[in-house]
Amino acid sequence: MIGRREFVRNSVVGAGCLLFSRAPLFAGADPAASDSRIEVLLAEPLGTISPNIYGHFAENLGGVIYDGIWVGENSKVPNVNGIRKELVEEMRKIKAPVVRYPGGCFADSYDWRDGIGPAEKRPRRTNFWEQVESATGPANHKYDPNQFGTNEFVRFCKLIGSQPYIAANVRSLPAESFYQWVEYCNSPAGSTTLADARASSGYAEPFGVRFWGVGNESWGCGGNFTAQEYAVEFRRYTTWVPRYGQELSFIASGPNDDSWDWTRGFLEEIVRKGPGQLRSIYGLALHYYAWNLSRGRTKDWNEGKGDALKFDSLDWYELLRQGDVMESLINGHWQVMGEFDHEHSIKLVVDEWGPWYRPGSEATPDDILEQTPTLRDAVFSGMTLDTFNRHPEKVAMANCAQLINCLNSLYLAHEDKFCVTPVGHVFAMYAAHQGGQGLRTIFSSPSVNYDRDGKTASFWGLKGSASLHDKEKELVLTVVNPHVSEAREAEIGVRGASLRSGSATTLTHSDIHAHNTFEQRDVVAPQTKTLDFKGRGLAYSFPPASVTKLVLTLG
Ligand code: AHR
Repeated sequence: MIGRREFVRNSVVGAGCLLFSRAPLFAGADPAASDSRIEVLLAEPLGTISPNIYGHFAENLGGVIYDGIWVGENSKVPNVNGIRKELVEEMRKIKAPVVRYPGGCFADSYDWRDGIGPAEKRPRRTNFWEQVESATGPANHKYDPNQFGTNEFVRFCKLIGSQPYIAANVRSLPAESFYQWVEYCNSPAGSTTLADARASSGYAEPFGVRFWGVGNESWGCGGNFTAQEYAVEFRRYTTWVPRYGQELSFIASGPNDDSWDWTRGFLEEIVRKGPGQLRSIYGLALHYYAWNLSRGRTKDWNEGKGDALKFDSLDWYELLRQGDVMESLINGHWQVMGEFDHEHSIKLVVDEWGPWYRPGSEATPDDILEQTPTLRDAVFSGMTLDTFNRHPEKVAMANCAQLINCLNSLYLAHEDKFCVTPVGHVFAMYAAHQGGQGLRTIFSSPSVNYDRDGKTASFWGLKGSASLHDKEKELVLTVVNPHVSEAREAEIGVRGASLRSGSATTLTHSDIHAHNTFEQRDVVAPQTKTLDFKGRGLAYSFPPASVTKLVLTLG
């Protein structure tokens, strides 16, 4: 029996616009019609929602980079300097704030020097994931042609308006190499030999990379360290890295799901050298995948997984239960961090999250770790983003795993075929929260009750998050209804303001398995309607199995 930790350690070594325009609500709506209530508390701000919570992750794995992002300058696929044009256009729409690259496990096997300089002179290397690749998989997924390196990654980020977040190799390269990667990216034009090397590829001006991951999953594929051993490496790798006037934010490899011992052991060892050491850490990376849909029958990494497309309502709720664990992980790790970092200067960076299913639903056969996201994954993603929004003081960044052709993809692509998945639509909807002031919001709704192997299980009825924008004139409220078949009608009120106008955007479908494909790209797509009401509140019917965004103008 193997678990995820062993896998990564060993693998490869290791309607509702039924807008009820019935006015006024809290004061006068027909309470008999509404079974739920949502109350936004204007006077209880939670903190600013970092745009980086809406971040992405692109690893050199399977079809993510080659085919997904990079098609090459001479490709018949429309591209911008080799980068898939349709992807660029879509990512601009979602205000993509930050992209993590090149891994993942790949990061701790990668030498950044292989990916710079003239493309035709770059070496071909064995990809970290080669042992997982099928015999019939494309060569450029097994053997890295290094056509997409640091320059191309930063160019991609600039095209989509994102900041780069680079994960450095701690397992197989020395600290000097990390230092020099920073030098290559950030040293001023004409200042160093590496700045000249950058300029000779057409990039005289520094890239200004702020976010640097110091290894990845260092408890597993990133070196099999103990937390204490890794803390020593972290201190060494981050001591006196050149700044060039650029703020550097170092992100430490953090725990896998509920590994409280990793968080505690790492910080305990960091502060052994004095509490001032905490200041070198911007964030602690938390990884959490929802993969075990066995309802407690096994902890085996392979046996426990479910199918991405073939599932029943029990599997639907099981995935959401798994996803709901995120909130307790954020709170739990935050509490442990506070034992050492009393000021809470270190934030959580959830730089890998999403559902992980067994193989079988790949849009492109042979793409490893690729799966087809359905409406279930959209609901899961909305729920997860709401969770991050509810903890803006704790979560500084999050990166959905992964951007394209892998796990909880926003996009699927192969050659000239492309589609936005239901997850991609959720990111487009939730972009409205970026940079807003998070507000405490109370959701009261009947629980979903269902039979879970002979026992009644329950799950919350409605949940979401709210943020305030535009000089406190606009409220964004996102709400998930997890029930597979029942709508929930809620009275919505904002304590401290009245509602003047607004719109509702809903993502749902009558079939919980609904998903988009290359041939049918718009099976699951958001629908927007204008709300028309007067008075202090409104009633809104949230359709079953849905994610809804309400944008409301306050009076
Ligand atoms: O996202 C796929 C893999 O999952 C990443 O490479 C690794 O960090 C994690 O275990």
